[in-house]
Amino acid sequence: MRTVMITGASSGIGKALAQHYDQLGWQVLACGRDQNRLMEVASSAQTIQTLAFDLTDKKQVEQISSDLPALDMLVFNAGDCRYIDNAMDFDAESFETIIQTNLISVAYGLKAWLKHMKKGGRVVFVSSSAELLALPRAEAYGASKAALSYLGESLSIDLAQHGLEVSIVRPGFVSTPLTAKNDFPMPMQVTSQQAAICIAKGLAKGKHHIDFPSSFTFLMKLLACLPFSVWRRLAIRM
Ligand SMILES: NC(=O)c1ccc[n+]([C@@H]2O[C@H](COP(=O)([O-])OP(=O)(O)OC[C@H]3O[C@@H](n4cnc5c(N)ncnc54)[C@H](OP(=O)(O)O)[C@@H]3O)[C@@H](O)[C@H]2O)c1
Repeated sequence: MRTVMITGASSGIGKALAQHYDQLGWQVLACGRDQNRLMEVASSAQTIQTLAFDLTDKKQVEQISSDLPALDMLVFNAGDCRYIDNAMDFDAESFETIIQTNLISVAYGLKAWLKHMKKGGRVVFVSSSAELLALPRAEAYGASKAALSYLGESLSIDLAQHGLEVSIVRPGFVSTPLTAKNDFPMPMQVTSQQAAICIAKGLAKGKHHIDFPSSFTFLMKLLACLPFSVWRRLAIRM
């Protein structure tokens, strides 16, 4: 039986991914902070085990490591988003929280868990299409995801000699509790179940980058090709 460990599996994309791999017959280690929500995910499943801990707590991340089985796949999916609403009164606390949750915690996980990966295994980073283009109010979230993608690409080179593959997932808008807080239009939104299917298909094909929905991420990549001065003028009017 193959084993996957998924962070942020108590909700949204991670929960849908956990349920998807459970249905495919994998042993799933579902991580999150909220034990009650993790138990709900596990209760409707065959082989989901739950691990409740805070990823931003280095000690808790290390403690989890002592009981881990050998992993075929490790999915760094947990994340949070906060917007910088007033750039002139820069919210350094939110910036720190988002970088800590979306980026630094991943380093804790890599340090503690990479040694449990089977040869031929895959490490997956759930980044965001937001990393493709500078967006208004996304100073914290966008920076965390751009750095996460860079981390993933760099690791993809360095882990090759250790027999490990890396995939970077860059979703557009997915309807989850994270995006339910957004107060702006979110075009081409997909459900978390649709997102899980796109991700699992891409991973099965061994893709380095998994971008979806393709029409949305194509548009983002097209806009990213514009000279920054042109995109800046457009974005200021948004
Ligand atoms: N939804 C979108 O449109 C979208 C688009 C692009 C990228 N993404 C990325 O996809 C990932 C999943 O997002 P989502 O939309 O599914 O969000 P979500 O429904 O809010 O789920 C976030 C998950 O992360 C976990 N988490 C957050 N902080 C944590 C911490 N300190 N320690 C442990 N677990 C923590 C939460 O667990 P607890 O609540 O149990 O603590 C929860 O399971 C994120 O990395 C997000 O940036 C989402």
